[in-house]
Amino acid sequence: FAGNNSDFLKGVVAMSGLPPADRMEVCFAGRSNVGKSSLINALTGRKGLARASNTPGRTQEINYFSLAESHYLVDLPGYGFANAPLPVVEKWQRLLKQYLSGRASLRRAFVLIDMRHGIKKVDEEILSLLDNSAVTFQVVMTKADKIKAQEQDKVLSQVRDKLAKHPAAYPEIVVTSSEKGGGIATLRAIIAKLE
Ligand code: GTP
Ligand code: MG
Repeated sequence: FAGNNSDFLKGVVAMSGLPPADRMEVCFAGRSNVGKSSLINALTGRKGLARASNTPGRTQEINYFSLAESHYLVDLPGYGFANAPLPVVEKWQRLLKQYLSGRASLRRAFVLIDMRHGIKKVDEEILSLLDNSAVTFQVVMTKADKIKAQEQDKVLSQVRDKLAKHPAAYPEIVVTSSEKGGGIATLRAIIAKLE
């Protein structure tokens, strides 16, 4: 991405607030606290761009970031446990599902999976929704710095087995650490190559 120029564009709380579908768009979905916002910061090289925090449920809107004036990077609220009142959580879960199944310009959904935990039941639900909406998704493993290589292999084979059942899954899995920088260049190249 020439110049590496990225910026926050807007936070969206309803489908009617989405920006015009005039650019290549990719999104980052995953359980609360999996590392979505941190990954966007690592990809753009701007530490405080997307707000990351230790509190699950930090991101409560659909946040649009522009990348190199050609792409939108979309940071989504997490699913699963969140440290926020139930009606609020339900509202953003609904929005999340509407977005994932109804955004025409969404070119690929990156689904983030914690390297320590693998694919859980709540993840399966989102993967099935993406299958049914025919949105190609690619799994990005996060927090690889937190476990040893040998344990990583075990989790990766679990993930591969589960992905085999999802027609919308893109087969290549990207292993990342936003903390240490592992896999970030690979993911950047994958996004840059999308047409
Ligand atoms: P929500 O917005 O609440 O859904 O969370 P999120 O998925 O955006 O996660 P976020 O990026 O806020 O990160 C959650 C926590 O995990 C933060 O404390 C991050 O510093 C930490 N974290 C994220 N990525 C990594 C990583 O690659 N390695 C390590 N060690 N910690 C990470
Ligand atoms: Mg977040």
